[in-house]
Amino acid sequence: MTDPFQPYTLAGVPLRDRFVRSATVSPYAAEGVVGRTGIERYRTLARERVGLIITEMVYISPDGQASRTQAGLWDESCIAHHKEIVEAVHEEGGKVFVQLNHGGAASLCEDPLSPSGVTSPYTGRPARAMGEDDMARVARDFAAAAARAEAAGYDGIQIHCAHGYLLSQFISPFFNRREDAYGGTPEKRFRFPAEVIAAVKGAVRTGYPVCIKINSNAEQDDTEYEDALMWMGRACAELGVCAIEVSGHDFTPQGRAGKHTYYLERAAKLRAGSGLPVMLVGGIRTMEDVRRVLDAGIDLVSMSRPFLCQPDLVGRLERGEDSLCVSCSKCFSMLRKFENEGRLCIQHEQGSDR
Ligand SMILES: Cc1cc2nc3c(=O)[nH]c(=O)nc-3n(C[C@H](O)[C@H](O)[C@H](O)COP(=O)(O)O)c2cc1C
Repeated sequence: MTDPFQPYTLAGVPLRDRFVRSATVSPYAAEGVVGRTGIERYRTLARERVGLIITEMVYISPDGQASRTQAGLWDESCIAHHKEIVEAVHEEGGKVFVQLNHGGAASLCEDPLSPSGVTSPYTGRPARAMGEDDMARVARDFAAAAARAEAAGYDGIQIHCAHGYLLSQFISPFFNRREDAYGGTPEKRFRFPAEVIAAVKGAVRTGYPVCIKINSNAEQDDTEYEDALMWMGRACAELGVCAIEVSGHDFTPQGRAGKHTYYLERAAKLRAGSGLPVMLVGGIRTMEDVRRVLDAGIDLVSMSRPFLCQPDLVGRLERGEDSLCVSCSKCFSMLRKFENEGRLCIQHEQGSDR
């Protein structure tokens, strides 16, 4: 089998192994800035041999902020701070992509944007349907944030098209009920995310790695979604996307049900159909999971909750240990409870994050 502990090159970026820390919001950012504790957390992950770290979702404009403790990259003043994250990771021999996001209907602002004004079930708050001028502005904001990310020294960019935020809202028939050029068919629903990808690619140097994260399943019409996913994979290859991270909208209930590697089957199909490198995330916690994923032809093994539980998981897996993470998702409520004394996981001792 492919050895996950051996180096792998992604779009020209040499990774020391095939493990990815999937984008994960931390409890550390305030006013859009991650701060010292957050930077040291990135340093720890790099030191503990995570091959590629994807930052937390970073908002591209203030109206796209979806979490109170989220970092931003909305103007030039943010670049210096992001340089500190990059430097910490590079000093430890790691590589880091920034995840760019607009929260859409799930944003915290007064008048959240969305494809069709459908209230986000994740927040329960009403949202406003976007006009073409809104779309043009958001695409420009993604592009400007991408240029700042490159200036900050990030090794690449991930565009967040998953988990019920703006770009996945466009892809999803549940959120996108438009009847214009941006809705009605899978191709039309992907049109705005494709415009954003093209705008981002146009704002960075040729060959600069740009990947996306996408849901492998849909809130409704899931059988039809599989064909849509295959089509989007091929469209991404044509757009010059360097890799696809495959997730799903339901990783929280899947994890709580005790399942593992929830999205593997569709990820393997997408890998074969698109020809693009695929990172799979969702319910990977044991060496058996890692083997199953790589044996299915997936290129990179991505994890979020297990690294909150144990940032030194790569070494543990190599020594034959499994993660203590049980995908209970209590990390979400610990994240919201900012006063959690640094604990990220119920498995950690009080007052410590280890
Ligand atoms: C506390 C927490 C924060 C998260 N923040 C993000 C995020 O900022 N961006 C993102 O794409 N996914 C985010 N996720 C989802 C994870 O990246 C991942 O897709 C999901 O947890 C499934 O992987 P896992 O089973 O390895 O945890 C978050 C998950 C958790 C638990």
